[in-house]
Amino acid sequence: MNVAVFASGSGSNFQALLDAAAEGTLSASIKLLVCDKPGAYAVKRAAKAGISAFIFNAKEYSSKEEYEQEILQELQKHDVQFIALAGYMRLVGTVLLSAFEGRMVNIHPSLLPYFPGKDAVGQALAARVQETGVTIHYVDSGMDTGPVIEKAAVPVQEGDTRETLQARIQKTEHELYPRVLQTLLHNQLAGGITK
Ligand code: GRF
Repeated sequence: MNVAVFASGSGSNFQALLDAAAEGTLSASIKLLVCDKPGAYAVKRAAKAGISAFIFNAKEYSSKEEYEQEILQELQKHDVQFIALAGYMRLVGTVLLSAFEGRMVNIHPSLLPYFPGKDAVGQALAARVQETGVTIHYVDSGMDTGPVIEKAAVPVQEGDTRETLQARIQKTEHELYPRVLQTLLHNQLAGGITK
């Protein structure tokens, strides 16, 4: 199945998906990176892997609808059937939601509904919880609010900083995202999509 990954930053989850697809543990063809930050490291990862990238600057458009229409055209051009958000720092609007309803997922670095939005790792440290984690969920119009698909717990350790906790969470993310995506894509195929 043809997949697009949306990222705004380093793209380490994008890389984990690329690696899993290359190894064959993820039966997906990653066709496109969509990125709203021209300087993001994710763009370099796409170039290195020979994956097409659609890079846009939201400020150059008059509305979310306008840039999402362009994204939609790119997705259609690459025959994309499933979207994985991986550190895409924008709320998805109605254009993409209506075209990809039930076929768009996100990964978030907390056990939702706790610590949605930005800096989930910092939020967990400030709340002094002993455990946080990772959630994969379907995307809806809210901020990290869509139906949960899977969660994995990650312990917070004595003396953790944002960096050490984030590294532990990302290790879990890089294992969890390809595995969950594989199951979801398998189920989509069973549901009748043939590519
Ligand atoms: C990840 O922690 C993901 O859960 C969140 O944004 C971060 C992206 O990291 N949505 P990376 O760009 O994949 O390294």
